[in-house]
Amino acid sequence: MFSPVKVNLYLRIVGKRSDGYHELETVMAPLDFGDTLTFEPLSSGITLRCDNPSLPTDDSNLVVRAAKRLAERFGVKRGAAITLVKRAPLAAGIGGGSSNAAFTLLGLNRLWELNATKAQLGEVAAALGSDINFFLEGGVALCRGRGERVEPVPCRLAAHVLLVNPGFGISTKWAYESWAKAAAGLTAAPSDVSVLLRALAENDLAGVGAGMYNSLEAPSVGKFPVLELLKRRMRDAGAAGAMMSGSGASVFGLFARKTDAEVAAAQIRAQFGPSAWAWVCQFGCPVV
Ligand code: C5P
Repeated sequence: MFSPVKVNLYLRIVGKRSDGYHELETVMAPLDFGDTLTFEPLSSGITLRCDNPSLPTDDSNLVVRAAKRLAERFGVKRGAAITLVKRAPLAAGIGGGSSNAAFTLLGLNRLWELNATKAQLGEVAAALGSDINFFLEGGVALCRGRGERVEPVPCRLAAHVLLVNPGFGISTKWAYESWAKAAAGLTAAPSDVSVLLRALAENDLAGVGAGMYNSLEAPSVGKFPVLELLKRRMRDAGAAGAMMSGSGASVFGLFARKTDAEVAAAQIRAQFGPSAWAWVCQFGCPVV
């Protein structure tokens, strides 16, 4: 089962909530790049194998947590052997772990023949993390609340996406805490999300570039100036817009021409060395 990553085209923190989370208004888009999950029946228990040794495969892994919670919720006695082929960078702001968790719910719903409804899977997803519900929907969406309230939006945008990870991760918790400390002075005023939504619906790439926004970007760019250099490199190469995704540290650019994205990728690999990972892909959902 393919488990795509996402980028946040827009992420505005509306405020801090009493439960410690932040209230969001965010637009996310799945890409046609990601990991692969396979599910095989076991008589009991959940096992996870992963080709990336940096990722723990114990109960701290979101895939295992999703599987166990689903089994608990539906009283499942059977088990599953799950294999994860990890291609996406970790702690990268592109939702890799959340996507893996969402597709584990969908895959095990099928393997265990649970016939769980979307709403039932959505409840399990929301209890596990903030971005998992988005991946259950499967298209471009405007998400609110912690991110778990998902409203699909029409998207006709045709663009090539250059996704770059500078070779280090940023903790989501750190990113939000830094916003809370530094927000007032650092963050530029956001455009209204309706500007972006209209541009997405009308396949207006320049409009999408102008409407992109991320509240979490300023604190991270302040601490890691390389992020600003990566964005500038993409814009110089012709990107209509370039921004950090989610809580970072991945940065992405939107290009009308694939060759421009490929040239930018080659320049970035040459300039920032082997630790800078760069990948050219596209939006991964059908144009509606
Ligand atoms: O929900 P998830 O596990 O993805 O969130 C990771 C961390 O990011 C949370 O523990 C919290 O510190 C922060 N977060 C937040 N507000 C959100 C989403 C995440 O403060 N809407």
